[in-house]
Amino acid sequence: MTTFLHVVGARPNFMKVAPVFHALAHLPGIRQLIVHTGQHYDFNMSDVFFQQLGIPAPDINLKVGPGSHAQQTSEIISRFEPVVEQQRPDWVLVYGDVNSTVAAALVCAKLLIPVAHVEAGLRSFDRTMPEEINRLLTDQMADLLFTPSQDGNENLMREGIPSGHIHLVGNVMIDTLIRMLPVATQQKSAGIPERFALVTLHRPANVDDTCWLGKTIEMLQTISHDLPVIFPMHPRTRKRLQESGTYISNSNGLKVTEPLPYLEFLCLQTRASVVITDSGGIQEETTYLGVPCLTVRENTERPVTLTLGTNTLVGRSVEVIERELQNVIAGRAKKGSIPPLWDGHAAERIAGTLLA
Ligand code: UD1
Repeated sequence: MTTFLHVVGARPNFMKVAPVFHALAHLPGIRQLIVHTGQHYDFNMSDVFFQQLGIPAPDINLKVGPGSHAQQTSEIISRFEPVVEQQRPDWVLVYGDVNSTVAAALVCAKLLIPVAHVEAGLRSFDRTMPEEINRLLTDQMADLLFTPSQDGNENLMREGIPSGHIHLVGNVMIDTLIRMLPVATQQKSAGIPERFALVTLHRPANVDDTCWLGKTIEMLQTISHDLPVIFPMHPRTRKRLQESGTYISNSNGLKVTEPLPYLEFLCLQTRASVVITDSGGIQEETTYLGVPCLTVRENTERPVTLTLGTNTLVGRSVEVIERELQNVIAGRAKKGSIPPLWDGHAAERIAGTLLA
C-alpha cells in the first residue's frame, strides 16, 4: 500500500487537488489522505469547493486560521510535523504557491519524506510577491516537480534542478475546468447581464495600498456606467475597504457580491465580456475559455497566458485599463489559443509518473 498525503489550505489549492485525488483514486494499492491547513476557513472560501468538486472532507484540519505570514507559516509547520511523523506517507503532494505549500514542503524536506510539487516552475521574477518566495523555496525542496508549461521547465533547469525531477504535465486547474464546464454552463442565468465585466482583486499590491484601492473602486464605478460590473469580493479586499472607510455602493451597474462558489464563478467567466483580475488562476481559466483578461499587475508568473492566451498586463494604470476596455467594447479584444497539454489530462500524467 502506497500512501499519498495531499496538503491544501487556500482557495486556489482546491481545484488543483481535485483531479489529482480523482486520478489516484482509480488505481489499486493506494491510500490517500487530505490535510487542510485551515489557511482559508470560511465556508465560501473552502467547504463549498470541496462539495462542488467532489473532494472528500479533509482527514485532518490543522485549523491555523489567519495571521501574519510568519505566524501562519510557522503554525502550519509546527502543526503539520506531528501529522507527517504519525502517518509516514510515501509521498506528500503540495499545490501552487500559497503559505501552506511552502510550510508543508519544509516539514517534509527535514523529515526526508519525498515531496511532489504540482504547478512547479512558475516565476514572476518579482520577489515583492509573497507567492514568488513560496514558489522558489518549494521548488528547491521538492523531489518531483510537475510543471504546467515549458517556461516552468526552463526556470527550474536554470535554478539547478536536475532535469530528471521535472515533468511537464500540463495544467491541473484546467482539468477541473474541463470537467466542471458542462455543469457550470447549466447554472441559472437569471439576473446575469448580457454584457458585463467580471472583477476580482485581492493581491496585497492592489488592495493593501489604500490610495490605489480607492482609485480602483472609483474606476469600477465609472466603468459600470457603460458596462455592468460584477465584483465578487475577497475577504482581504473587504477588510481593507472597511479599514480605510472606503464606501462602495451597489449602484445599478456595479454589483458587489460575497466570494462565489466554483460553479457560479466559472459560469460568470464563460459569459463575461471581459475579466479584470489580479488572480493567477483566473489568467489561465480565461485563456482556456477565450475570454479577454486584463491583469492588474506589472508581471505574471504565467507568461503563456500573454504569448498564447487572451491575457494583457495592464499594470496599475487607470488609463491603460480604460483604453483596453474600450478595445474590448469595440470588438478588438485580444484573441488567443489554448497552450499545449491544457487538455484535461494533466492529473492522469501526474498519477502515471508518481506510480512509475
Ligand atoms: C492567499 C494566497 C494567495 C492566493 C489567495 C487566494 C498566500 C501567501 N497567499 O492570499 O496566493 O491567491 O489566498 O484566495 O498564501 N480571510 C477570511 N476568510 C477566509 C480566508 C481569509 O476572512 O476564509 C481573511 C484572512 O483573515 C486575512 C485575509 O483574508 O485577513 C487574507 O487571507 P490569507 O490567507 O492571509 O491570504 P490571501 O490574501 O487570501
